[in-house]
Amino acid sequence: MLVLLFGGTGMVGQGVLRECLLDPRVEKVLSIGRSATGRQHAKLEEANIRDFDALDLAAYDACFFCLGVSAAGMSEDSYRRVTYDMTLDVARKLVSPRMTFIYVSGAGTDSTERGRTMWARVKGATENALLALPFKGAYIFRPAVIQPLHGIKSRTTLYRVLYTITRPLLPLLKRAFPRFVTTTEQIGRAMIEVAANGAPKAILETEDINRF
Ligand SMILES: NC(=O)c1ccc[n+]([C@@H]2O[C@H](COP(=O)([O-])OP(=O)(O)OC[C@H]3O[C@@H](n4cnc5c(N)ncnc54)[C@H](OP(=O)(O)O)[C@@H]3O)[C@@H](O)[C@H]2O)c1
Repeated sequence: MLVLLFGGTGMVGQGVLRECLLDPRVEKVLSIGRSATGRQHAKLEEANIRDFDALDLAAYDACFFCLGVSAAGMSEDSYRRVTYDMTLDVARKLVSPRMTFIYVSGAGTDSTERGRTMWARVKGATENALLALPFKGAYIFRPAVIQPLHGIKSRTTLYRVLYTITRPLLPLLKRAFPRFVTTTEQIGRAMIEVAANGAPKAILETEDINRF
């Protein structure tokens, strides 16, 4: 499987990249971003997102889209430009009958696109637009709390502080509330499995992710 990865420098993306490099089903990963992952591996190639339009990506089988920002302190327009516009720009260019597109959204997303919570509306609109594109498969991952494993850290200061404070609690929380807590490792493994074999439904909540 040839994999495209967006957001490979982030907390979720680093976890997904780790699992891709470990899994023999993944032959190659092309990480596309505005900064380098800092990793060296025989299976890993990198490209700058500025060059995206010029890349020949017809041979790729799956896109793991882990690029995203926290809405904290952002206007709806700015949040929508990164969350909806960037994601759909990429997705529309990749759409093909051989491509599986997996988007990292979040728990509590608003599929009606009309609720009161700005981030949930925008993510809901993004999910709906992706699911309407004629991919081989389009899947939405909606994690709630994510335990970063293997030394992985968030690029978002707010999340980094929160996860540092709650680090000792997360394994306990995960045991007590398995429906609400997943890990960077489980997300990565689930993405590879869904890209390889599909999933029974298009929107996967934490408990679905944890079943893989
Ligand atoms: N962390 C959580 O607990 C959690 C829970 C539920 C859902 N999610 C969702 O998961 C997704 C990823 O979150 P994360 O925790 O991995 O975030 P993160 O650690 O802050 O990483 C964000 C990633 O997106 C990239 N990015 C952000 N803005 C960009 C832009 N304008 N152009 C190019 N790349 C950009 C960053 O690249 P740079 O390295 O270049 O900045 C980085 O690779 C988000 O959509 C988030 O809502 C996260």
